[in-house]
Amino acid sequence: MAVELERAVREKKAVVGVIGLGYVGLPLIRAFVAAGFRTMGFDVDRAKVDQLLAGKSYIGHIASEWIRDCVESQKFTPTADMARLSEADVLLICVPTPLSESRDPDLRYIEATAEEISKALRPGQLVVLESTTYPGTTRDVVGPILAKSGLKVGSDFFLAYSPEREDPGNPDYTASGIPKVVGGAEPASARLAEALYSQAVVNVVPVASCEVAEACKILENTYRSVNIAMVNELKMLFDKIGIDVWDVIAAAKTKPFGFQAFYPGPGLGGHCIPIDPFYLSWLARKHGMPTRFIELAGEINTSMPAYVVRRVIEALNEAGKPLKGSRICVLGVAYKKDVDDPRESPSFELMDLLSAGRAILTYNDPHVPQLPKMRHHELPAMASTPLTPEFLAGQDCVLIATDHSAYDYDFIVKHSRLVVDTRNATGKVRQGREKIRKA
Ligand SMILES: NC(=O)c1ccc[n+]([C@@H]2O[C@H](COP(=O)([O-])OP(=O)(O)OC[C@H]3O[C@@H](n4cnc5c(N)ncnc54)[C@H](O)[C@@H]3O)[C@@H](O)[C@H]2O)c1
Repeated sequence: MAVELERAVREKKAVVGVIGLGYVGLPLIRAFVAAGFRTMGFDVDRAKVDQLLAGKSYIGHIASEWIRDCVESQKFTPTADMARLSEADVLLICVPTPLSESRDPDLRYIEATAEEISKALRPGQLVVLESTTYPGTTRDVVGPILAKSGLKVGSDFFLAYSPEREDPGNPDYTASGIPKVVGGAEPASARLAEALYSQAVVNVVPVASCEVAEACKILENTYRSVNIAMVNELKMLFDKIGIDVWDVIAAAKTKPFGFQAFYPGPGLGGHCIPIDPFYLSWLARKHGMPTRFIELAGEINTSMPAYVVRRVIEALNEAGKPLKGSRICVLGVAYKKDVDDPRESPSFELMDLLSAGRAILTYNDPHVPQLPKMRHHELPAMASTPLTPEFLAGQDCVLIATDHSAYDYDFIVKHSRLVVDTRNATGKVRQGREKIRKA
């Protein structure tokens, strides 16, 4: 089995199936198509599949023309029919891994996917989990569900974990340019997964087991969460003593070794960094160990929107205005620059807090034309307001929450009365600096 699949992979005759066609799944399809593979994409969301079949992209950095070409030339076949899972030789799972209401891992998407695969599994298939999760998920959660098929891992089918490291909106790194860590459930699976990814990505990093690969991804994200929390805390301290934290970081990063720059902001956002470390804390609790760094970082990072709102209140106060009744425009509701993804974006918490203080809110985001409904936030329906000179001049405060490159910061500062900047986006603006407050 392994020999035939390895040959098919090396000759690029293997069909690569991706399950979950979101921010991770679609770029992965693109990497395999670019490498010369025929791909299939599976998603339970029929609306997404229909859009893809109609040649339309729903992700900003994936072009509709590319989708149309690939679908027409049958290099990419999107489908919601899970019975077709048996048509692919390789199945890469890229479904969501959120937290439950009680902030525990919610593996229901992975489990549902594994159940579907087990119904269609045939000898000679390789299954790789890519969703971020705690160490042990591939072997102890996915493995037993796939075993319900009656097939045996390592001889009939193959199982591995390879974490996705997609950085949406980063033009320097697409899926094929980022080294891929790969760990197998046993040696034959490891070898096959390594052979597969080495066809499509710049560099494959084989590790001892799927657990090492799973832990590697959580380490990467915990590292970011903890370091961002540290600079967020230092930002508040330095501000109290009249030092600009961004100046300090710019100076510190001239050290050629032993320092990596992390930047403060209005709070964490996105699908990964605010969530993934808690997969590890949950596992640690099961083993009777606390994860104090993770908890503390979470506490500091989630307190950031309240800090920013305090800074807005202080800045308005200096101008003799209360928050109540002040016109505030939030710039950027995507969780980070140059993407259209609003998941876990701190902008929503900022807007909730400002609206609780009875501010008159508007927003602008060139990548998010309508304010999406979010599970934990009760905000009215709103459309992105164009940033005209008159509109900006009519605002009591413009709050920069996301530093999109599309913004003309000179123009924004020139026409606004007060700008509260959480990202140092106005760092290079020369005129009107007296109107800028950092937060
Ligand atoms: N977005 C990122 O930047 C990023 C980076 C690295 C890792 N990750 C991880 O990758 C995984 C996927 O994240 P994403 O951002 O692509 O999520 P996403 O929500 O954009 O996409 C997931 C897709 O899976 C589909 N889906 C859900 N259940 C399914 C099922 N049972 N069968 C088939 N399809 C199903 C959904 O309809 C959706 O289209 C998560 O574990 C995430 O933590 C994300």
